[in-house]
Amino acid sequence: MLTRLQAANDYIANNQHKVTNRPHFHFTPEIGWINDPNGFSFYKGEYHLFYQLNPYDIVWHNIHWGHATTNDFLNWSYKPVAMANDKTYDANGCFSGSAIEKDGKLHLLYTGHIDPNLQYAKDESQIKQYQCLAVSEDGIHFEKHASNPVIAETELPEGYLICDFRDPKVWEVNGTYYCVIVVRNAQRRGEILMFKSDDLVQWSFASSIYEVKFEENTLLECPDFFHLDGKDVLFFSVMPCDPEFEEQVTRKVAYAIGTLDYESGKFNVESEDLIDYGSNFYAPQTTSGEHGERLLIGWMQSWTQAKPPAGFEFNGMMSMPRQLSVVGNQLLQKPAQSVAQSFKHSSTHENIQLQANESFELMNAEAAHIQLAVPAAANNHFVVELQKNEQQSARIVVDIAAGKLVLESDYSNEQAVEIAIAAGQSLTLDVYIDLYSIELFVNAGEKVCTLTSYEPKGSLIALRAVGEAAISEAVCSTFVNE
Ligand code: FRU
Repeated sequence: MLTRLQAANDYIANNQHKVTNRPHFHFTPEIGWINDPNGFSFYKGEYHLFYQLNPYDIVWHNIHWGHATTNDFLNWSYKPVAMANDKTYDANGCFSGSAIEKDGKLHLLYTGHIDPNLQYAKDESQIKQYQCLAVSEDGIHFEKHASNPVIAETELPEGYLICDFRDPKVWEVNGTYYCVIVVRNAQRRGEILMFKSDDLVQWSFASSIYEVKFEENTLLECPDFFHLDGKDVLFFSVMPCDPEFEEQVTRKVAYAIGTLDYESGKFNVESEDLIDYGSNFYAPQTTSGEHGERLLIGWMQSWTQAKPPAGFEFNGMMSMPRQLSVVGNQLLQKPAQSVAQSFKHSSTHENIQLQANESFELMNAEAAHIQLAVPAAANNHFVVELQKNEQQSARIVVDIAAGKLVLESDYSNEQAVEIAIAAGQSLTLDVYIDLYSIELFVNAGEKVCTLTSYEPKGSLIALRAVGEAAISEAVCSTFVNE
C-alpha cells in the first residue's frame, strides 16, 4: 500500500505541470495550498524552506510539510514532501514548526495536530496539539522520532489548554536548546511559553515569556525568537481568541524587542510594533543566513483572503525574503541581497513636478522595483498607481501634510491599509511589484506593507498628482532572473 508520503509525492509528480502562471520572483508550491513557512534554515550549504502544504487541493486540509531548497531565493529546487500526517500523534496535520542542525543532522520540531472531528463542530476537549521531532541525515528524508510526542501533557504546566499549543521555534545557546511555543491560557488568551532541552528529545518547561492583555481578545500563533544587534526579538502572529471576536480583531504580525534573562526566564519588552502593516502577510519565520545575517520569510496571504480565481492550481505564495536589523529598538527590513540585486536599472527621472490630476508614466512591467524620493513639501499629495489599466489599479496614496500613506487596490476585497508617517517630512518608498503582489518598504524598511491579488488586470506604473506633487527622484528597474 502507498504511504501517505508516497501518495503526496506521486500526486505532485503527476499534476504539477498544471501550474503555468507562477509569479516572477516569489516562491509558490508545485501545486495546491500552502500556508506558513516552516523549518527555514541554512543547512549543508543551501537554504531549506519547508511549508504547510495540501498538495491535493487549493484549500487548507490534511497538512503535510512541503520542502524546497535554494541558494539565491530566485531559483528553487523542489524536494520530496518531507512529512505527511501519518502517525497517531499528527493524524490531522503536521502543523508549523522549525529546524535546527545538531550533530550534522537536520532536526525538525513541529506540531502534531489531532482533531477527530475535523471539518465538523470544533470540540476542544478532543483536540490535542503535541510537539514532535523528525530527524534527517541528508536534509531530504525525515524520520519521525520514536519518543514522539516530545512535548505533550506531561511537560505543559497546569492551567494551559493543549488544544491550542503549537508552532515551536527552536534555537540553541551554549549547548542548551530552547524553544518558544504559543498556547491558550486559562483565560482563553494567547501566551508564549519557553521550554528547554539538552538533546531536543527531553524537554522541560522554563517560563512564560509573553502574554496578551485579556481585553485584546487574541490568541497567538507562530512565535519566533532570535538575538540581533544586541537585542532579543520576539515575533508572533495575532488572531481572534474565539469566534465572537472575529469582527473586532484583525489578524496581524507583530514584534517585541527587549532582553530575555535566561536565569529568571523573564522577557523584558522595550518596544513593540507591527512587522508588516498589510493584511496579506502572516506567520513569518526567520533563520540565520549563510553570512550570519537574520533573514525572514512570510506567508504572503492570510486566513481571511478569498480563494484565487477559477483555473488556479496553486493557492499561496511566500514573501520576498527580507534581511533584518535592529536600530534604536526598531526593526528594519530590506529585501535579501540576492533578490534585490536581480533588478536591472531601466530609467531614472529627476525632479518630477505635477499639477493636480496630471500623470507621469514611469514604466510598464509585470515585475519591477521602483524607488521614490519624496521631498518634504507640505502640500505634496499624489498617488503611485500600480498594476494599472485604463480603469483599475492598486494604489499607494502619499499625503505628506496628513502624515499618512494609504494602500488600496481595485483587485482586492481587503480594506485599505493606512500607515502613519511623520507629517511634513521627506520620505523614501521602495516598491517591489510582482504578478500578484506589491511589497512596500517605507524609509529604508522602517515600515513594510504587503498587498496581494491574484487578479490584477494591468501592468502600468505611473504617478498621478492629487494636489500638487513633487518627486525628487524616481528610479525604475525591471526584474531579470539571469
Ligand atoms: C498559522 C497556523 C499555525 C498552524 C498552521 C496550520 O497560520 O494556524 O498556528 O500551525 O497554521 O496549518
